[in-house]
Amino acid sequence: MIRSAVKSASELCGQSDLSRAVDEFATCTSVELLQGTLFEIRFHAPRVAAAAAPGEFAQLLVDEGQVPLLRRPFSFSRVDISEGTVSFYLAAVGRGSSRLRLLHPGDRIRVLGPLGRGFSLPSSPGRSLLLAGGLGAAPFPLLMDQLIGRGEEVIWLNGSRSSSELYPDHLLPSGIQSRLIRTQDGSKGDPGLVTEGLPELMGVVQRIYACGPNPMLAAVYRSWASEVAAGHTAASLEVSIEAPMGCGFGTCLGCAIPLAAEGDESGPIGLCCRQGPVLPAQQLNWDQLLNQPAHLG
Ligand SMILES: Cc1cc2nc3c(=O)[nH]c(=O)nc-3n(C[C@H](O)[C@H](O)[C@H](O)COP(=O)(O)OP(=O)(O)OC[C@H]3O[C@@H](n4cnc5c(N)ncnc54)[C@H](O)[C@@H]3O)c2cc1C
Ligand code: FES
Repeated sequence: MIRSAVKSASELCGQSDLSRAVDEFATCTSVELLQGTLFEIRFHAPRVAAAAAPGEFAQLLVDEGQVPLLRRPFSFSRVDISEGTVSFYLAAVGRGSSRLRLLHPGDRIRVLGPLGRGFSLPSSPGRSLLLAGGLGAAPFPLLMDQLIGRGEEVIWLNGSRSSSELYPDHLLPSGIQSRLIRTQDGSKGDPGLVTEGLPELMGVVQRIYACGPNPMLAAVYRSWASEVAAGHTAASLEVSIEAPMGCGFGTCLGCAIPLAAEGDESGPIGLCCRQGPVLPAQQLNWDQLLNQPAHLG
């Protein structure tokens, strides 16, 4: 069992794919401070912007010195190809993100991307539910932009602990069909968890996209799996998950994630940076994933 898992990881390592990625010297064009530690930072990086797709991410080299040594992964939040800019939505939580918050327009850093696999886009329009918990809102403005551009109806469900952690309305694209807010402390929208009332919504959409803390995603998956089993929804579910990342392109094996496999309890191992960060929810081994370190809040 262990042997097959290790083999699977080394095979993935051999397939590192940097063919679409560019390591671009990007110039900071703005840093918008939002509530609390949240902020949105924008870079002029035309080559990265031209290739970036919803759900994909970039590795930001915050400092050319040795601290922090490793690049930090952040999802593309908004992209403007005509201006050649990419924006990231972050919380200042540690050394890397706190340094990014202190950048000024004109400062330059290296941005490597796009990396990973993003969300699948529909070939014909329907209705999508986009479900975000806390910082999990980060990849959705770009996804919304592209869905709305294809004629898709978008339902936006944003939940957080309190109103100060909600994604700001003014950064959302226009054309969202329906906006639903849930906060655990009831400071804005309906009180409760973002997962409450999900079964009804799942029944009226063709696609569900979710991003947030892994326990939230596991709850969404379980709710979806029981609705599918009961024949109440035929919607697909894609989740963007988080794992600690060293390289971001399949060489360090730091982002191993447990995949589901019928009849094999340990299951194969995948790499979040190569097979993810977006995966069809049924491809993950959720029990094992919840035992792994992650910190998206
Ligand atoms: C594919 C991918 C996409 C991501 N996209 C985003 C994004 O768009 N926006 C975003 O803000 N983050 C995102 N993250 C998470 C982000 O990469 C990490 O939060 C980042 O490593 C923080 O770097 P740091 O140097 O600031 O903190 P570190 O120095 O790495 O961590 C310092 C301390 O803070 C803790 N910590 C780190 N991150 C968090 C957190 N989010 N909440 C609470 N505690 C934390 C760590 O456990 C540690 O104790 C993403 C992660 C992945 C894998
Ligand atoms: S293999 Fe290095 S981050 Fe995925």
